[in-house]
Amino acid sequence: MTTLDIQQLQSSLAHKNPRIILKKALELFDNIAIAFSGAEDVVLIDMAINIRKNIQVFSLDTGRLHPETYRFIEKVRKHYQLDIELLTPDREILDNFVKTKGLFSFYTDGHQECCGIRKVEPLKRKLAHLDAWITGQRKDQSLDTRQDIPEVQIDTAFSTPEHRLIKFNPLLNWSSAQVWDYIDAYQVPYNELHERGFISIGCEPCTRPVLPNQHERAGRWWWEEATKKECGLHAGNLKDEDTKKSLLE
Ligand code: ADX
Ligand code: SF4
Repeated sequence: MTTLDIQQLQSSLAHKNPRIILKKALELFDNIAIAFSGAEDVVLIDMAINIRKNIQVFSLDTGRLHPETYRFIEKVRKHYQLDIELLTPDREILDNFVKTKGLFSFYTDGHQECCGIRKVEPLKRKLAHLDAWITGQRKDQSLDTRQDIPEVQIDTAFSTPEHRLIKFNPLLNWSSAQVWDYIDAYQVPYNELHERGFISIGCEPCTRPVLPNQHERAGRWWWEEATKKECGLHAGNLKDEDTKKSLLE
């Protein structure tokens, strides 16, 4: 596996249908998992389960998700009869953070610290034990941070000198409309918050519904600049090295 040429693989997968990308990913890697949180990820689960029954799925349970999101996770678990691993933050680091900075520090000093503790640290722990992961990122989710994502890449944010991690983004060229067409056509479960104006859904205090014609991620960390709207999961997308480093510390 270490000899796999990622650039060559990328050339062969460029602009391919998501199913073909997923099939290849699952063929090449046994120890691979889908990172699940939103509508796109259930589309990936729906496609993947038809390729391989025993797919690994994990979700970052930050402790700050909407009740509707917890119900959605449960709906997906039951619908696909799937084990979903819920990753939780390190107790000691979290307790210390909440004790000193409270529950809403992100509104005044940015989301990096809280996301670092509630999302990035547990993700790092999980990714250290995987050879590859699959995300539901799409290019048109952000003109600022997601335009250059490829079908497959070496995850420069989470690889270490001893452990090369590969990241697949099978839906990168799909629009939101294509995702929702699929959900409708195949009766895929979705988060009930979508019925109330939410498009991109993260943690409850950092997500709000969007107005007609607002960009789908306008409701995420709405008090921050668009160029900073990555929480560290996809820090590799950021061009500014200092911001990237600060998200992974
Ligand atoms: S985020 O970084 O801004 O929160 P976004 O919500 O756009 O990411 O989702 C992009 C992809 O990141 C999802 O399709 C999913 O693969 C992964 N992801 C985001 N949030 C989570 C989460 N809480 N748990 C697992 N994967 C996640
Ligand atoms: Fe914390 Fe908000 Fe990040 Fe969730 S999205 S981990 S609540 S800063």
